[in-house]
Amino acid sequence: MKSARILLAAAIAATSLSALAYDADWKRGRVYYRSVCTSCHVANPVGSINPSAKTMGDWATYMKADKHAKGKEKVSQYISKTYRDKIKSANKAAEKFADVPDQELSDDIAAFLKKGAKDGDSPASCS
Ligand code: HEC
Repeated sequence: MKSARILLAAAIAATSLSALAYDADWKRGRVYYRSVCTSCHVANPVGSINPSAKTMGDWATYMKADKHAKGKEKVSQYISKTYRDKIKSANKAAEKFADVPDQELSDDIAAFLKKGAKDGDSPASCS
Protein backbone atom coordinates (compact mmCIF):
# COMPACT_ATOMS: atom_id res chain seq x y z
CA MET A 1 0.00 0.00 0.00
CA LYS A 2 2.73 2.37 1.04
CA SER A 3 4.78 1.65 -2.07
CA ALA A 4 1.73 2.19 -4.26
CA ARG A 5 1.31 5.64 -2.75
CA ILE A 6 4.98 6.42 -3.35
CA LEU A 7 4.65 5.28 -6.96
CA LEU A 8 1.61 7.48 -7.42
CA ALA A 9 3.42 10.47 -5.96
CA ALA A 10 6.37 9.82 -8.26
CA ALA A 11 4.06 9.56 -11.28
CA ILE A 12 2.42 12.88 -10.44
CA ALA A 13 5.79 14.54 -9.94
CA ALA A 14 7.04 13.20 -13.28
CA THR A 15 3.94 14.40 -15.10
CA SER A 16 4.15 17.91 -13.76
CA LEU A 17 7.87 18.06 -14.56
CA SER A 18 7.35 17.03 -18.16
CA ALA A 19 4.56 19.58 -18.50
CA LEU A 20 7.04 22.28 -17.50
CA ALA A 21 9.90 21.20 -19.75
CA TYR A 22 9.99 22.85 -23.15
CA ASP A 23 9.78 20.37 -25.99
CA ALA A 24 12.45 21.63 -28.39
CA ASP A 25 11.49 21.97 -32.03
CA TRP A 26 14.53 20.82 -34.03
CA LYS A 27 12.83 21.77 -37.29
CA ARG A 28 12.55 25.37 -36.21
CA GLY A 29 16.16 25.16 -35.07
CA ARG A 30 17.15 23.89 -38.51
CA VAL A 31 15.41 26.75 -40.30
CA TYR A 32 17.05 29.29 -38.03
CA TYR A 33 20.49 27.70 -38.26
CA ARG A 34 20.37 27.54 -42.04
CA SER A 35 18.83 30.94 -42.58
CA VAL A 36 20.61 33.00 -39.97
CA CYS A 37 23.79 31.26 -38.78
CA THR A 38 24.77 29.79 -42.14
CA SER A 39 23.90 32.83 -44.22
CA CYS A 40 26.42 34.84 -42.25
CA HIS A 41 29.07 32.11 -42.25
CA VAL A 42 29.00 31.76 -46.03
CA ALA A 43 29.40 35.52 -46.38
CA ASN A 44 32.56 35.29 -44.26
CA PRO A 45 35.90 33.59 -44.80
CA VAL A 46 34.89 30.94 -42.25
CA GLY A 47 32.41 29.45 -44.76
CA SER A 48 29.56 27.08 -43.95
CA ILE A 49 29.78 25.09 -40.73
CA ASN A 50 27.96 21.77 -41.07
CA PRO A 51 26.32 20.37 -37.94
CA SER A 52 27.90 17.06 -38.96
CA ALA A 53 31.35 18.60 -38.55
CA LYS A 54 31.08 18.17 -34.78
CA THR A 55 29.88 15.46 -32.40
CA MET A 56 26.80 15.82 -30.19
CA GLY A 57 29.14 16.30 -27.25
CA ASP A 58 31.10 19.04 -29.05
CA TRP A 59 27.91 20.94 -29.88
CA ALA A 60 26.53 20.62 -26.37
CA THR A 61 29.80 22.01 -25.00
CA TYR A 62 29.85 24.75 -27.63
CA MET A 63 26.31 25.94 -26.94
CA LYS A 64 26.78 25.75 -23.19
CA ALA A 65 30.05 27.72 -23.26
CA ASP A 66 28.23 30.45 -25.19
CA LYS A 67 31.35 31.68 -26.96
CA HIS A 68 31.46 32.53 -30.63
CA ALA A 69 34.10 33.49 -33.17
CA LYS A 70 37.00 32.12 -31.10
CA GLY A 71 35.53 33.52 -27.92
CA LYS A 72 35.32 37.15 -29.04
CA GLU A 73 31.55 37.24 -28.55
CA LYS A 74 28.58 35.16 -27.43
CA VAL A 75 26.70 32.78 -29.70
CA SER A 76 23.50 33.64 -27.80
CA GLN A 77 23.60 37.19 -29.14
CA TYR A 78 22.76 35.81 -32.59
CA ILE A 79 19.78 33.95 -31.17
CA SER A 80 18.45 36.90 -29.18
CA LYS A 81 15.28 38.82 -29.94
CA THR A 82 17.38 41.95 -30.22
CA TYR A 83 19.39 40.45 -33.06
CA ARG A 84 16.29 39.03 -34.78
CA ASP A 85 14.72 42.46 -34.59
CA LYS A 86 17.77 44.02 -36.18
CA ILE A 87 17.88 41.70 -39.20
CA LYS A 88 14.22 40.78 -39.67
CA SER A 89 13.58 43.23 -42.49
CA ALA A 90 16.17 41.35 -44.56
CA ASN A 91 15.86 37.84 -43.08
CA LYS A 92 12.68 35.77 -43.37
CA ALA A 93 13.52 33.33 -40.55
CA ALA A 94 14.32 36.15 -38.16
CA GLU A 95 11.02 37.76 -39.09
CA LYS A 96 9.04 34.55 -38.75
CA PHE A 97 10.49 33.73 -35.32
CA ALA A 98 10.70 37.33 -34.13
CA ASP A 99 8.65 36.67 -31.00
CA VAL A 100 9.98 33.27 -29.94
CA PRO A 101 11.53 33.44 -26.45
CA ASP A 102 15.36 33.34 -26.62
CA GLN A 103 15.62 30.21 -24.49
CA GLU A 104 13.17 28.28 -26.68
CA LEU A 105 14.95 29.20 -29.88
CA SER A 106 18.27 28.32 -28.29
CA ASP A 107 16.88 24.90 -27.29
CA ASP A 108 15.55 24.42 -30.85
CA ILE A 109 18.97 25.12 -32.36
CA ALA A 110 20.66 22.84 -29.82
CA ALA A 111 18.16 20.08 -30.72
CA PHE A 112 18.92 20.48 -34.43
CA LEU A 113 22.68 20.44 -33.81
CA LYS A 114 22.33 17.32 -31.66
CA LYS A 115 20.29 15.55 -34.32
CA GLY A 116 22.54 16.72 -37.15
CA ALA A 117 25.84 16.03 -35.40
CA LYS A 118 28.42 13.62 -36.76
CA ASP A 119 27.17 10.95 -34.35
CA GLY A 120 23.57 12.22 -34.28
CA ASP A 121 20.36 10.62 -35.60
CA SER A 122 20.70 12.23 -39.02
CA PRO A 123 24.00 13.99 -39.71
CA ALA A 124 23.17 17.26 -41.46
CA SER A 125 24.81 19.79 -43.68
CA CYS A 126 24.06 23.45 -43.17
CA SER A 127 22.00 24.04 -46.27
C1 HEC B 1 26.91 38.05 -38.27
C2 HEC B 1 27.59 36.87 -38.72
C3 HEC B 1 27.43 35.56 -37.98
C4 HEC B 1 26.27 35.01 -37.45
C5 HEC B 1 24.87 35.55 -37.50
C6 HEC B 1 26.66 33.74 -36.86
N1 HEC B 1 28.01 33.53 -37.02
FE1 HEC B 1 29.03 31.90 -36.35
N2 HEC B 1 30.77 32.72 -37.07
C7 HEC B 1 30.89 33.93 -37.74
C8 HEC B 1 32.28 34.16 -38.08
C9 HEC B 1 32.83 35.37 -38.83
C10 HEC B 1 33.00 33.06 -37.58
C11 HEC B 1 34.52 32.80 -37.68
C12 HEC B 1 35.21 33.55 -36.59
C13 HEC B 1 36.72 33.34 -36.58
O1 HEC B 1 37.18 32.30 -37.06
O2 HEC B 1 37.38 34.23 -36.08
C14 HEC B 1 32.01 32.16 -36.96
C15 HEC B 1 32.33 30.95 -36.35
C16 HEC B 1 31.42 30.06 -35.86
C17 HEC B 1 31.76 28.74 -35.37
C18 HEC B 1 33.17 28.10 -35.34
C19 HEC B 1 33.74 28.14 -33.94
C20 HEC B 1 33.92 29.54 -33.42
O3 HEC B 1 33.06 29.99 -32.62
O4 HEC B 1 34.87 30.22 -33.81
C21 HEC B 1 30.58 28.15 -34.98
C22 HEC B 1 30.39 26.75 -34.44
C23 HEC B 1 29.51 29.12 -35.19
N3 HEC B 1 30.06 30.26 -35.75
C24 HEC B 1 28.19 28.91 -34.87
C25 HEC B 1 27.17 29.84 -35.08
C26 HEC B 1 25.79 29.63 -34.73
C27 HEC B 1 25.23 28.40 -34.05
C28 HEC B 1 25.12 30.76 -35.12
C29 HEC B 1 23.64 31.05 -35.05
C30 HEC B 1 22.98 30.96 -33.80
C31 HEC B 1 26.09 31.66 -35.70
N4 HEC B 1 27.32 31.08 -35.65
C32 HEC B 1 25.77 32.90 -36.21
C33 HEC B 1 29.85 34.78 -38.06
C34 HEC B 1 28.51 34.62 -37.70
